[in-house]
Amino acid sequence: MTNAPTDQFPDRPTVAIVGGGICGLGIGWRLAAAGCAVDVFEKGKAGREASWAAAGMLAANVETEPGEEALLALNLESQAAWPDFATELEAVSGVDLGYRDEGILVVAAHRDDAAELRNTYEFHRSLGLEVEWLTGGQARRMEPHLAPGVSAAVSSVKDHQVDNRQLVRALHEAFLRSGGRLHEDTTVEAIDVEAGQAKGIQVAGQRREADMVLLAAGAWSYDIDGVPPVARPPVRPLKGQVIALQMAPRAPIIDRVIWGPGIYLVPRRDGTLILGATVEEKGFDSDLTAGGVFRLLEAAWEILPQIEELPIKEMWVGFRPTSRDDAPILGPTAVDGLVVATGHHRNGVLLAPLTIDAVSAFMLDGTLSEAVEPFGIGRFNADAAAKAGNEE
Ligand code: GLY
Repeated sequence: MTNAPTDQFPDRPTVAIVGGGICGLGIGWRLAAAGCAVDVFEKGKAGREASWAAAGMLAANVETEPGEEALLALNLESQAAWPDFATELEAVSGVDLGYRDEGILVVAAHRDDAAELRNTYEFHRSLGLEVEWLTGGQARRMEPHLAPGVSAAVSSVKDHQVDNRQLVRALHEAFLRSGGRLHEDTTVEAIDVEAGQAKGIQVAGQRREADMVLLAAGAWSYDIDGVPPVARPPVRPLKGQVIALQMAPRAPIIDRVIWGPGIYLVPRRDGTLILGATVEEKGFDSDLTAGGVFRLLEAAWEILPQIEELPIKEMWVGFRPTSRDDAPILGPTAVDGLVVATGHHRNGVLLAPLTIDAVSAFMLDGTLSEAVEPFGIGRFNADAAAKAGNEE
């Protein structure tokens, strides 16, 4: 645990939160429940950006890529916290989160894909992750509608899913029930910083004072005025296009999340089947494109041809808040009283319990868990200082 100076942490600070997504609502819930006066300011409707666009996979194991070993520890810690977090939040909010623990199956669409899948499997095994190699036939016994061309698969029983839109509804309700105040359609124009100390925010030309400010505006977190460069979280939007099909709820064509080359398919209890997602460096371009939709449908059809018969329910675009190293940015900044929770990239839903608990604990008493310490904004400033040193 790291202790911050006590004068930054009044007993029950007044808190202004910029951003009403999973981070803003969740941290706001914990702070309001602890007796803080908390206001969440959301430029649109609460939880309707990345939190809403996500697929809700809790896939700490199969989503791990080479170079993400440090992040894996954080992801596994949050994944382990999910069942208790879900139970608590459901009890507080009265909202069913649709948590499902059937596991995830990663499949090779063709014989050629099997070698790449084998490499990834060996990598995951080398990290000690609980994954199991299956033949195509074994995979089809688990999911009978998989295409005959599926030649191999990896089963990950520890990777689960939750309905992220239910999570948003639950956090919204828990926040309000705890006494938090939510201001939707309210754009924060600036964060007020004086002499290295956060003093509040500016909305509609008015100053609103606060003891602490939490910047949790997802992909928009870099663009809030008033924050000195050293405290601006370096995040950018990473576009994802997503399609939802409708299965018959009583006769779903799959029971567990399935990953294939360039696609994941996430079945919900109500029969929704989510196909995601493209990964595009297009800034805040919110267009659904023929190419994006075509690639998702083609990749999904290759491994699950029965999708051809399913009606399209909805299509959308979301913006992952992605940092320079794809890891989240959590905790204090060089500005006293200004705290950040953003940069979750592909793992916002997975990291929700850990983010909510660690950041709210820091804001209440100045303690930061060891797991979270390496993920502070300071790591980017250290990079910049080292680079400047090398250039001298
Ligand atoms: N975690 C899945 C995605 O970002 O598309």
